[in-house]
Amino acid sequence: MKKVITYGTFDLLHIGHINILEQARELGDFLIVALSNDKFNREKGKSAYHSYMERKAILESIMYVDLVIEEYSWDQKKNDIEKYNIDYFVIGSDWEGKFDYLSDYCKVIYLPRTEGISTSKIKTDLKY
Ligand code: CTP
Repeated sequence: MKKVITYGTFDLLHIGHINILEQARELGDFLIVALSNDKFNREKGKSAYHSYMERKAILESIMYVDLVIEEYSWDQKKNDIEKYNIDYFVIGSDWEGKFDYLSDYCKVIYLPRTEGISTSKIKTDLKY
């Protein structure tokens, strides 16, 4: 069984999120999403509209997602990869090169982002 992991905030779910989750799941047999908790979001300078528990429930209802775990720090990835026996670390191309150091532990794949959509854009567009 090939296991895949990806990380993110996944607030105000949109088609870019669905596309990356679908592609990530297709790389293997089991997809884990490490979902940024509210405290870690603040550390990243993000403020999610939906709480961690709401975002987790939404992600868990998506057919491509097998398990949601908590993302609480920048440094947990190596540990998660070992703990869950991960084969593929996947993230959007906005992070290109940033996680190459994880290739000592599993295959690192940057997937192309879906053009023209982001949570930030939704927030901006709705302020009319
Ligand atoms: N993602 C993507 N295509 C998009 C938007 C996001 O592939 N159009 C991917 C990101 O690259 C990341 C994952 O979805 O791997 C979660 O990204 P997240 O930061 O939660 O979503 P964004 O829409 O980018 O949020 P923000 O605008 O707040 O940065």
